[in-house]
Amino acid sequence: MNTKTERPKAKSGLKTLAALLPFLSPYKKQFFFATIALVIAAASTLTIPYGFRQLIDLGFTAGNPDHASHVNYYFLGLFGVSCVLAISTAARFYTVSWLGERVTADIRSAVYAHVVQQSPQFFETTQSGEVLSRLTTDTTLIQTVVGTSISMALRNILLLIGGLLMMLITSVKLTSIIIVMLLAVLVPIIIFARRVRKLSRASQDRIADASGLAGEILNAVTIVQAYTHEKIEAQRFGRAVEQAFTTAINRIRARSILTVMAILMIFGAIVFVLWLGAHAVMDGGMSGGELSQFILYAAIVTGAVGALSEVIGDAQRAAGASERLMELLAERSPITSPLHPVALPVLAKQGAALQMRDVFFNYPSRPDTSALSALSLDIAPGETIAIVGPSGAGKTTLFQLLLRFYDPQAGSITLDGVNIKELDLHTLRNTIGIVPQDTVIFSANAMENIRYGKPDATDEEVMAAATLAAAHEFIERLPEGYQSFLGERGVRLSGGQRQRIAIARALLKNPPLLLLDEATSALDAESERLVQHALEAAMAGRTTLVIAHRLATVQRVDRILVLDQGRVVESGTHHDLVAQNGLYASLAALQFNS
Ligand SMILES: Nc1ncnc2c1ncn2[C@@H]1O[C@H](COP(=O)(O)OP(=O)(O)OP(=O)(O)O)[C@@H](O)[C@H]1O
Ligand SMILES: [Mg+2]
Repeated sequence: MNTKTERPKAKSGLKTLAALLPFLSPYKKQFFFATIALVIAAASTLTIPYGFRQLIDLGFTAGNPDHASHVNYYFLGLFGVSCVLAISTAARFYTVSWLGERVTADIRSAVYAHVVQQSPQFFETTQSGEVLSRLTTDTTLIQTVVGTSISMALRNILLLIGGLLMMLITSVKLTSIIIVMLLAVLVPIIIFARRVRKLSRASQDRIADASGLAGEILNAVTIVQAYTHEKIEAQRFGRAVEQAFTTAINRIRARSILTVMAILMIFGAIVFVLWLGAHAVMDGGMSGGELSQFILYAAIVTGAVGALSEVIGDAQRAAGASERLMELLAERSPITSPLHPVALPVLAKQGAALQMRDVFFNYPSRPDTSALSALSLDIAPGETIAIVGPSGAGKTTLFQLLLRFYDPQAGSITLDGVNIKELDLHTLRNTIGIVPQDTVIFSANAMENIRYGKPDATDEEVMAAATLAAAHEFIERLPEGYQSFLGERGVRLSGGQRQRIAIARALLKNPPLLLLDEATSALDAESERLVQHALEAAMAGRTTLVIAHRLATVQRVDRILVLDQGRVVESGTHHDLVAQNGLYASLAALQFNS
């Protein structure tokens, strides 16, 4: 279950964040505006200590009107600077937060749009809950970086450089000492920040694991309760959460050490230098105002370095988070439309022709077991073919290949003479209507669920399809008829009702090729007879492949193919096959004699 965390690593470190650049580039204007606001805010911050120094060195002595107006002038200036600071800070905050939200929204949509295009192979190794966790929690970390960290970093770099410059102007000697000490502090900070990133990735991975687990269990909550596994499942989730907690604490510990080192060393350096400065004032080498100015600048610089180490921590966290998101985005589906798809010839009125030649196939997750081998079949337009055979024979697999959810390792599949690999994926799939073995109902009302087969269908068309699928009557009897909400995964319907909705959906699509995988298996004899009737009517004018276990339902088809262990072992009408006395005959004997 943990193969997902062992994927090849993407680029490491803050370089991962560079992968976010394509998401930032559409917003150059906003970045420019934010930078301007930021520079103005930083500049006004930096002028404040200078003003203070002037005030202190001017002194507040009584009885000098000239002097008093001078002081007024300075205070007015100071207030003006505060106004500029307030406005530019708010402007920066707004723009930068906007950017953070915008970019996060873009990344969420991009990752989601990408993930829904992945072939089933992807979902064999990735749990949907994991993807959800990536979409919500991982993107939130990126939002922090784009929405605050970038601007914090810029602001503090400006303050750091500006503050250092002003310190240099105030006292070269004291500043040089501080710089040397700061450089010494930086090395351990960088080393620790790297550790934070690794732990952050691990921490996000554990959260995703927990979400994956929860997603699966919540979808199967009735089974959990039927087997009275509530406690076991709660404990299993609890353990996953504990793991996430432990990893998070490791990360937080690393970050705390980072903080303590940064503050201790930086303040230590500054206190030491100030001590030197105090002596300089006492020896008369520096004025009191100069020292105050120096202290304020030193405070700004210290604050900036502290903030920068925070920012680096955040950025490393986001780098850890974006790693997996970028891996998701880099995931390439093995099933894609060809660059230059061939147009499907105008289909014959009777439906699509289908051909399979020597198809060999094994599922990617089971490279050594063949699901289909040397499978060949030829289906003429308009034919109705039944596919029967023992469980695990490869019947559903055959449908998966027709829909091109997987490509065979060898052999070819052609639709109306065109290899399906040369068709646009959407063209191919639009030609096919499928009622899958496990019906899928969306949490919407009956009308919308059937309309999924043809989004622009009118209500009348939907009802006609429902009538054909023997679903109209029971839908009308639901509390709100077609507007009745069916519950998540259709929990408010019986199994047979779900199947009829699925059949109605496929019929509404009106496809030239109809694939029915045990479409009536959950129906009672009476409904099955009704649906069977309806399906027989619907089969006119299209090619239909019916997978069935109940042989009684397939006696009237044109041809029956018997599949066993991935091969067609027999083929013919019911009577031919019974006469052949092979696998079909024995299956039939079992079913009809009892
Ligand atoms: N996603 C998958 N990955 C690996 N193996 C798979 C996968 N899906 C099916 N298989 C295997 O492929 C073989 C054929 O499965 P398939 O679903 O086609 O059987 P089937 O004929 O439809 O059976 P049933 O009548 O029970 O539905 C089985 O042995 C099954 O275990
Ligand atoms: Mg099957």
